[in-house]
Amino acid sequence: MKIGILTSGGDCPGLNAVIRGAVLKGIALQGHEFVGFRDGWRGVVQGDVVDIPRSLVRGIAKQGGTILGTSRTNPFENGGGPDVIKDHLQRLGIDAIIAIGGEGTLAAAKRLTDAGLRIVGVPKTVDNDLDATDYSFGFDTAVHIATEAIDRLRTTGESHHRCMIAEVMGRHVGWIALHAGMAAGAHAILIPEQKVSVERIGQWVKEAHARGRAPLVVVAEGFVPEHMESPHSERGLDTFGRPRMGGIADQLAPELEARTGIETRTTILGHVQRGGVPTAYDRVLATRLGMAAVHSVVEGRWGSMVALKGTDIEQVDFQAALGKLKVVPQKRYEEAAVLFG
Ligand code: F6P
Repeated sequence: MKIGILTSGGDCPGLNAVIRGAVLKGIALQGHEFVGFRDGWRGVVQGDVVDIPRSLVRGIAKQGGTILGTSRTNPFENGGGPDVIKDHLQRLGIDAIIAIGGEGTLAAAKRLTDAGLRIVGVPKTVDNDLDATDYSFGFDTAVHIATEAIDRLRTTGESHHRCMIAEVMGRHVGWIALHAGMAAGAHAILIPEQKVSVERIGQWVKEAHARGRAPLVVVAEGFVPEHMESPHSERGLDTFGRPRMGGIADQLAPELEARTGIETRTTILGHVQRGGVPTAYDRVLATRLGMAAVHSVVEGRWGSMVALKGTDIEQVDFQAALGKLKVVPQKRYEEAAVLFG
């Protein structure tokens, strides 16, 4: 078979390990041929492909980013749609597609599968917000990077007796904030799943300060304080019409400073959380998912994605996988909140 691979949406450490896992298993064990679509769905819509011989995936499990490039192109727009894509696949002799992406990518893959295309999915997101998989690769790396950065903020905060606010990614879920915040011993962790008043945050800050600590607040970009209706967004919409997030830390800092009288600084970690080498955990998970996706193709499990369940890789239908965010459960938040202040 000739299998086309694409990486779509925001990039994520481990994408190259998925590609390598799929290609090595597919070529070495089963004699398949691989091509990559350049820049996600853009390459599919425009029939823009590159051959992936075994030599191209040599040593790439540890490489950040994606060798294929990515974009947030919607395959139903920009001159796309099922008929255009089918024509390209036929012309290029491609039998099936492995789509590596997050919710937007997999939702588009489902629509295309419903229209008769042969696609299997691999879930990808640093946010860890896909309900159908226990963990998504990239998340562990993002947590490591955030934790290391927050540890560094703590030492400079201690020197200056300041309150430090670190803002992390995650869109509408607080997994990165919860894990990095717990790992770094934050005095408050603010996540989208839990509304908290600025007064309450100020109390935690003052409690930590009163013990001679430099208060450390970790806030998820999607956090909504009690006095706000929706997450802070000042950079418009992305191509899927979703608000671009980021900047809540800068909103909170002056309010906290005014309430506590403690000098406060913010750091928005941003895309550094998605860059660079994946952790060993993410490399292993991504490699296993890539290999399993080839298995799904061989079995003709169109419209399904591979997913981590416990320690096993399983297949889940797109239908069941989509539409439900994996939010931080109340009890996980409460467990962490015992140590706030
Ligand atoms: O979904 C992954 C993610 O990194 C989010 O945490 C973040 O809000 C968004 O992507 C940023 O998107 P972009 O790379 O388009 O700025």
